[in-house]
Amino acid sequence: MKKIFSVAIDGPAGAGKSTIAKSLSKKLGVIYVDTGAMYRAMALFLLRRGVDPKDSTAISKNCADADISIAFENGAQQVMLNGENVSGLIRTEEVSSMASKSSVNPDVRAKLVELQQKLAEKEALVMDGRDIGTVVLPKAEVKIYLTASSAVRAKRRYDELKAKGEDCDLKQIEADIIERDHRDMTREISPLKQADDAVLVDTSDMGIEEAENALMAIVEDKING
Ligand code: DC
Repeated sequence: MKKIFSVAIDGPAGAGKSTIAKSLSKKLGVIYVDTGAMYRAMALFLLRRGVDPKDSTAISKNCADADISIAFENGAQQVMLNGENVSGLIRTEEVSSMASKSSVNPDVRAKLVELQQKLAEKEALVMDGRDIGTVVLPKAEVKIYLTASSAVRAKRRYDELKAKGEDCDLKQIEADIIERDHRDMTREISPLKQADDAVLVDTSDMGIEEAENALMAIVEDKING
C-alpha cells in the first residue's frame, strides 16, 4: 500500500459517511478527518458572535478571527476553536442549520479547504464531507460517493434521536434533510455532487456492516489492485 494516500468520501447528511469512514480509517490504520465538524465549529463561532446567516459580508469579515484546528484523543477527532475543544457543542440543530448556511460563503470555504489540504499532504487519511473528491482532494487515490434515500436517512436520524430520548417528528426531519440537501447541492461554490471518478454506493438497503465491507472492497481494489 502507498505510504500517503487519501480516501475521499462525499455524500449527503445521514448516508452513514462518518460511521463508515471512521471504521474504514481504523481498518486502514490512518486518521479520519470529519470536515463537517470544521464547518460546524465555524458556525458555532459565528452564532456566538451573533452574525446573521444571511449577511455574507459579516460572515466573511468574522470568519477570519476563527482559528480552527483538529487534534486526536484516543484516535477520535477533536475540533478546536480558538484553543477551546468544541467537539461536544457542534451537534445541535441550531449549529447544523447555521453550518449549512455559512458553508456557502467563499471565505469560509477557502479557509477550511486550505486546512484540509494541508492535513492530507502530511499523512494518509480518510476524509469525508461534501466536496472532498471534487475540490479538496481532486487527486485522491479513492473517491466514494455515499448516499441513501431521504426517507431512509430521515428514519436513521429519527431512531438516533429517539434512542437519546428526544421528542421528534419523522416528517419534519425528512423535510429538513431535503431542504439541507437542496442547499448543499445547489450552492454556487463547491456544491455537493459526485466526482466523475467516484464510485457510487447507495446504502438505502444496506446495514452498516454491509456498507463497511462494500467500501473496504473498493479501497482495497483501488489501492492494492
Ligand atoms: O456533514 P455535516 O452534517 O457535519 O456538515 C455540516 C454542514 O457543513 C453541511 O450542511 C454541509 C457543510 N459541509 C460542507 O459544505 N463541506 C464539507 N466538506 C463538509 C460539510
